Amino acid sequence: MCGIVGYVGPKSTVEVLLGGLKRLEYRGYDSAGVSVINGSGTLETRKRSGKLSVLVDDIEQNPLGVAHIGIGHTRWATHGAPTDGNAHPHLGGAHKKLSLIHNGIIENFAELKSELLEAGVTFTSETDTEVAAHLIAAEYDKTGDLISAFRRVVLRLHGAFTILVMHEDEPDVVLAARRNSPLVVGLGVGENFLGSDVAAFVEHTKRAISVGQDEIVILRSDRVELEDFAGNKVTHPEFQVDWDASAASKGGWSSFMAKEIADQPQAVGDTLMGRVASDGTVHLQELAPLGNAIHSIDRIIMVACGTAAYASEVGKYAIEAWARIPVSVELSHEFRYRDPILTSNTLVVAVSQSGETMDTLMATRYAKEAGAMVLSICNTQGATLAREADAVLYTHAGPEVAVASTKAFTAQITSIYLLALHLANTRSAHSKSELQEIGRELLKLPAQISEVLAGLDPIRELARSYKDAKTVLFLGRNVGFPIALEGALKLKELAYIHSEGFAAGELKHGPIALIEEGQPVIVIVPSVNDPDSLHAKVVSNIQEVLARGAKVIAIAEEGDKAVAQVTDQVCYVPAVHRMLAPILTVIPLQVFAMELSAAKGLDVDQPRNLAKSVTVE
Ligand code: M6R
Repeated sequence: MCGIVGYVGPKSTVEVLLGGLKRLEYRGYDSAGVSVINGSGTLETRKRSGKLSVLVDDIEQNPLGVAHIGIGHTRWATHGAPTDGNAHPHLGGAHKKLSLIHNGIIENFAELKSELLEAGVTFTSETDTEVAAHLIAAEYDKTGDLISAFRRVVLRLHGAFTILVMHEDEPDVVLAARRNSPLVVGLGVGENFLGSDVAAFVEHTKRAISVGQDEIVILRSDRVELEDFAGNKVTHPEFQVDWDASAASKGGWSSFMAKEIADQPQAVGDTLMGRVASDGTVHLQELAPLGNAIHSIDRIIMVACGTAAYASEVGKYAIEAWARIPVSVELSHEFRYRDPILTSNTLVVAVSQSGETMDTLMATRYAKEAGAMVLSICNTQGATLAREADAVLYTHAGPEVAVASTKAFTAQITSIYLLALHLANTRSAHSKSELQEIGRELLKLPAQISEVLAGLDPIRELARSYKDAKTVLFLGRNVGFPIALEGALKLKELAYIHSEGFAAGELKHGPIALIEEGQPVIVIVPSVNDPDSLHAKVVSNIQEVLARGAKVIAIAEEGDKAVAQVTDQVCYVPAVHRMLAPILTVIPLQVFAMELSAAKGLDVDQPRNLAKSVTVE
């Protein structure tokens, strides 16, 4: 939700800011803007509603001055429609010398605004943000000390914010404050950067520092200082970003999503790397910070949102089957506000690609306060969730830019399989050799994903033929059920088609009433060798909807003759251990949604109304 970039240094600031915003655009794309202090010491600001390209075109036609300091913002609207006026930066003070950008929500803005209106301040936007610009400008006018003015105002703000500020009369410094919203510093030589995440500056430097909760950054070209809101100096260790700028570029693909779907063999392979020995033994060094407490876990609660919650649902089947620990999966925002029962033997596993999803952060803070252990499964180095959890298990999917999550999903499921096997090793429900066998199956997944990717042309063609569908239903049982939910979510967010995922067993309890002539139904068929004969039950479910006029597309295991007899629209995936099938069966559904979206002429990477990281509750 909103991307933020700041720069002080010798390079062309406008280029640095626009380059950073390009990489952050996935965080919000309804308007964008920049402010710089040009060579004559004047603050210049340009902002435009619409995608970043609108701002870029505008600046190309009417360039801003050469500058060595600036801030930039890409917006996902919360307060006020996406208009030029509501776009950031916002200017403060009678002479509009202060420029400010913000990510988050200032919850007490109405009260602060009344105070400013009474003092005669004129507002030019409907945002919550503008109050902060006017308050800081007023404090600065009183004292001439920008840092203390900034600190005083930040202390008055409630809610979530990352705020960056610069002032025409202080042309060497950008100030930043962080509470509940992400902020990372990039350390260069004779130049320094600020960003909502490392993507903002990774093409310039890989040295980074994560800013802590309630901290202020004083950024100059030759030094970076950090302090808490009370003004005490603080330090944090530097870390190296472990991917480079090319990992976050399309690399010749038609969209980031297409590239990220194709990245999945590597994402899953990198997530497995170093964690599964060649004999199949799984050991997660990353869980060491949990110490012996891991042996006394009597319950696991997984908290997540959206696609990460569906990955957790898949994981629940694996953890319960292999480690025999009861698992529940909860949407973070529901968990946080329902007074859940937690003990010191509860392990809360927070799953998040970004590690910045506010709902999940609030859920984990709540769980920690209640005395539970927290493990985060996260894809972003140095993310808030990773830093606040007792232990972190990173997925190594690399940067995921498309708003619709794909490779992060399969990497999350992979990580949860690893967690399940690690925990199973500490229990006695399964023999060592049984668990090692599953570990060896895991190692085959990257090659099997590549096989699936090579055979997707028929599903692409099918997707295009459903371009005018009004509603699509998805059915699955067991681990296929969360995949049905994920397939439906992908179609909603990318193609704006109403879609629902159902547990196939639930069909006759209501949803079958939706079936009428021509209704598309996508069915995830379990392995033919499924010992619990769920396969036969799902084939019966297919028959039931076919009998009522549905058109069925089946995602089934290679060699599944029974399915071929009931529908000719089958997408085959290689046979795998039945618990691991979701990693393969989800891929045709990702491609189905992407292709259908493209066929409708929609923006695959940036669907309407969405943002990649939901950093407000
Ligand atoms: O960064 P997170 O994994 O915490 O994000 C959670 C959801 O917002 C995210 O998975 C969302 O549902 C995706 N747009 C789905 O494609």
